[in-house]
Amino acid sequence: MPRKDPNSLRSHRWYGPDDLRSFGHRSRAASMGCVQADYAGKPVIAIINTWGDINPCHSHLRERAEDVKRGVWQAGGFPVEMPAFTLGETFQKPTTMMYRNLLAMETEELLRSYPADGCVLMGGCDKTTPALLMGAISMNLPAIYVPAGPMLRGNWRGEILGSGSDVAKYWAERRAGNIDLKAWTEIESGIARSAGTCMVMGTASTMTSLTEVLGFSLPGASSIPAVDSNHAKMANCSGRRVVEMVWEDLKPRDILRGASFHNAIASVFALGGSTNAVIHLIALAGRAGIKISLDDFDTLSRKTPLLANIRPSGKYLMEDFYYAGGLSALLRALALHLDLGCLTVTGKSLGENVSAAEIYHSDVIRSLDNPVLSSGGLAILHGNLAPNGAVIKASAAESRLLKHSGRAIVFDSFDEMNARMDDPALDADADSVLVLRNAGPKGAPGMPEWGNLPIPQKLLKAGIRDMVRISDARMSGTSYGACVLHVSPESFVGGPLALLKEGDIIELDVPARQLNMRVSDDEIARRRAAWKPKPGIYPRGYGKLFMEHIKQADEGCDFDFLEGTAPIPEPEIH
Ligand code: FES
Repeated sequence: MPRKDPNSLRSHRWYGPDDLRSFGHRSRAASMGCVQADYAGKPVIAIINTWGDINPCHSHLRERAEDVKRGVWQAGGFPVEMPAFTLGETFQKPTTMMYRNLLAMETEELLRSYPADGCVLMGGCDKTTPALLMGAISMNLPAIYVPAGPMLRGNWRGEILGSGSDVAKYWAERRAGNIDLKAWTEIESGIARSAGTCMVMGTASTMTSLTEVLGFSLPGASSIPAVDSNHAKMANCSGRRVVEMVWEDLKPRDILRGASFHNAIASVFALGGSTNAVIHLIALAGRAGIKISLDDFDTLSRKTPLLANIRPSGKYLMEDFYYAGGLSALLRALALHLDLGCLTVTGKSLGENVSAAEIYHSDVIRSLDNPVLSSGGLAILHGNLAPNGAVIKASAAESRLLKHSGRAIVFDSFDEMNARMDDPALDADADSVLVLRNAGPKGAPGMPEWGNLPIPQKLLKAGIRDMVRISDARMSGTSYGACVLHVSPESFVGGPLALLKEGDIIELDVPARQLNMRVSDDEIARRRAAWKPKPGIYPRGYGKLFMEHIKQADEGCDFDFLEGTAPIPEPEIH
């Protein structure tokens, strides 16, 4: 492979010429203690770090950036850390999804406007991964992803706790009166024991795993617990490797192919991954000029077995997955369902990367002849309630609900849902279908993770733990239940969910991939004629831009002006 020469480095335009501007760049580098030998003729590696005091999942990334820098220096590069907007899932409101595209824009423009030759992307908490990757794909400089890594297992009175999944489980028990405040407070102290991302196969672990499948992390990187010493070594190796990638000119859009995305989609199902992956993968593909659709997910879901026995679809946690061989071992077991010829950041194929991987615990990572589920972990639904599609994670629902009809109880907002849900007068039984609308990309706005609607308290007390729930919202990857999500088009823009009335019969048929309201076409047309849109809530600012440009869930929720690969000129330096 021809290697770049130092004068063709992008950063040379800033540091190299004998002119007034370059004098300014060099003299200010000197003011930070750098001599020309530090950077002259070397790849400048931007370390885009989403560390922040408000983001517990990334609390170790400040020191981990030093490991990356060590690797960059050792390989002959010049590391430059650039802090970026941290999207902390637990603290940021109304939802991190509101800001995924903003971090993607920041990543792209940081790389464009500064003298970067390559980059290391540091993130992990849910939306940070797709955001960093979307920006890097659009900028198309050599890029490697350092995933934050999952937390250690949670622990309470000897019980293993998984973030998110067990919060929902024990909160339901508390609302049912089975857990007191003392126990609840102990759980609060035991469920998040270290730095790192949620340690179930939630959105964070799903997206970091898929990033590795797409070819953007070193082999095995996404499975390493955040506080394991191997995590620091992986960060160091990533810093070393990206310098080589610059000389090799190995860029994101050289790596990504349609087959890379098919591998990623198949991996979602083999991992029992988050429904959020559907939105993020469509958006990522859009940045690479590759078209994938909801149908691709449904087709591959029918064929791909669930091999990772990890919560919320299975039994174990990410720490167990790592000890069992991690993602590399799973991908090797899944080989028949993958295109192993796809290129990765190592400069080798996915198949070469995982060829020596082994499974060390056959209950955590199953083989093709002993899967957790033979297929169908996720289904794409269509029908008169979701003309452009909706998503259900069938593997995380009680199977009796996958073919179900029931009377709709409709909430127009989260506040209304909260106010009515535990009212003893709520006319709900176990067969009712709970519906939340105005919770989509524009409606909420930001498409928050409200899709796992709570079960009414009186039904919890009667022992009910799952019901059919429908919304245009998303659901946390750590959640479970018969929740139909991402209904498109959303109700806020006049999707049929907006036309549903309380008491209408809803029919869910997952085997037939159908979601319908039993309402005649004529009646739907009458209701549509009477429907009036609500005004947006943002008179100015980022929220206004968001409302004007956000796309629907089935299209990946990117901003319309960020998609595609149309070239943008390099900045003038004057
Ligand atoms: Fe950050 Fe779950 S809250 S990964």
